[in-house]
Amino acid sequence: MKKILVTGGLGFIGSHTVVELQNEGFEVVIIDDLSNSSKTVLDGIFDITNKQPIFEKLDLKEKSSVEKFFKKHNSISGVIHFAASKAVGESVENPLLYYENNLNTLIYMLKGVLGLQESNFIFSSSCTVYGQADVMPITENAPVKPAESPYGNTKQIGEEIIADTCKVNQNLNAIALRYFNPIGAHPSGKIGELPIGIPRNLVPYITQTGVGLRDCLSVFGNDYPTPDGTCIRDYIHVVDLAKAHVIALQRLLDDKNDSNFETFNIGTGVGSSVIEVINAFENVSNQSLNYRFAPRREGDIISAYANITKANKILGWKAKSSLDDAIRSAWKWEQKIRNL
Ligand code: WQD
Repeated sequence: MKKILVTGGLGFIGSHTVVELQNEGFEVVIIDDLSNSSKTVLDGIFDITNKQPIFEKLDLKEKSSVEKFFKKHNSISGVIHFAASKAVGESVENPLLYYENNLNTLIYMLKGVLGLQESNFIFSSSCTVYGQADVMPITENAPVKPAESPYGNTKQIGEEIIADTCKVNQNLNAIALRYFNPIGAHPSGKIGELPIGIPRNLVPYITQTGVGLRDCLSVFGNDYPTPDGTCIRDYIHVVDLAKAHVIALQRLLDDKNDSNFETFNIGTGVGSSVIEVINAFENVSNQSLNYRFAPRREGDIISAYANITKANKILGWKAKSSLDDAIRSAWKWEQKIRNL
């Protein structure tokens, strides 16, 4: 049984990926510092898979702890690296925190991976690397635009660090997955997103409004050049996204990659407007949502959705869930955590 390290494995995307890895028969070791997650997620993972991953609470900024970890776990065959800070606004206020949290840790991880027998590495990247792309849907060849925030910059620089390291280490095999907008929760209702404080992202804000935790959703802008005036994004079910990681990892383990650093867009290929997301929520929850139009949010791009041909052709991966499926799972999760 191959042993896979998942950093940030108790976070939103990480926990769903741990489930999919265990379902595929991998042995999983999780590193998480619990800064934005909870140990109770381990119970949810166990309830779904009936398997307990190995868990180590560890701060990846502590270089010596990372080195010690890799000495202890030298039989790891692949690393999926999620652990990172992800709040765009916070990154603008505290850039050094983001460069330290997201880049120092990446460097220590890569050093550790290079010391393993099998150096396979999957990196959490983001569609933010494209900024407002000129052509929709966005292919992997679209130019990487100057980042809008230090957070986005850490994803761009992160990819560059990996590319440069791969160039001089042919035994290192890496894939960067550029996620579009991950939403939803495990259909079992056992794991999901746990946003702290007021959610910044659309879907948790909608579901929290749905349960009455928030009064009203502000729709940021209704005068964009889109069919209904609201922004368009590519919302992908977190379970589809998690599965993409397992498939990408398998490609590296099977030595099937064409070059030792590849990038893939991971989205559905379908763009949905904010109004369409609200309609989907009203449809699956059978209730109307209290919302109002508000001014545009600074830094928002008009539209971003993926061309997923590359992931489909090369990885054989495709998102299976619809927007309704994803919203249904998010709604089920929200009701569960509020004990409704
Ligand atoms: C979606 C749409 C808002 C909240 C985020 C990350 C980004 C990335 C993908 C990860 C926008 C609108 C939102 C609200 C609203 N990937 N909205 N009212 O900004 O597309 O990107 O996920 O790395 O880095 O920031 O996602 O969910 O915040 O917004 O009208 O209260 O919903 O304007 O059009 P975003 P989001």
